[in-house]
Amino acid sequence: MALAYNHEEITPRELKPALYELDGISRETVEAHYKLYQGYVNKRNEILGKLVDVDLASANQVYSEFRSLKIDLSFAIGGVKNHEIYFEHLGGHGGDPSGIFGDLVKRDFGTVADWKADLKATGMGGRGWAWTAYDWDEGRLFNYIGDAQNTFPVWNATPLVALDVYEHAYFIDFGTDRAGYIDAFFNNLDYDVVSDWAQKYGIRP
Ligand SMILES: [Fe+2]
Repeated sequence: MALAYNHEEITPRELKPALYELDGISRETVEAHYKLYQGYVNKRNEILGKLVDVDLASANQVYSEFRSLKIDLSFAIGGVKNHEIYFEHLGGHGGDPSGIFGDLVKRDFGTVADWKADLKATGMGGRGWAWTAYDWDEGRLFNYIGDAQNTFPVWNATPLVALDVYEHAYFIDFGTDRAGYIDAFFNNLDYDVVSDWAQKYGIRP
């Protein structure tokens, strides 16, 4: 039995020109990083194609093949989603968040400085990602930790800020100085984009 997955291919989103002119994060880093993102898109397409071809009526070993394809799919799609948020909300001028997102931050963390301190510490402790997400069940923002593209997302929460702390995000520009990179990340955030997402998703302060 073969599966009738809809496995239409997706294509990578283009980078905004502002991504090549970030403050402290070089064009070289962004170009190399974008190639990794393209790799996740390709992998997602490839895996969905393979899942269609798996014959579930064949021997037991198909389950281990199925397992690895499913794990790889979560990694690839996680990599696509995480990087699409990351690239889309960079290219701004940082500062203090305004609009809906600014109101949410102040309501749920007390001050912008406390939100930044919490997200920075989460990013220093994470192996791959830290996210500020709106948790629909809790009705508030949390900074959640991620170790890989497919670890620790929380159900029914919508990521609004995605801080990539994999070494590929900063090693060329900052060496081992992850803290310096995280400061640069904040300085390049476009909070208008983040508040537009909050508006689009219907999140209310
Ligand atoms: Fe990345």
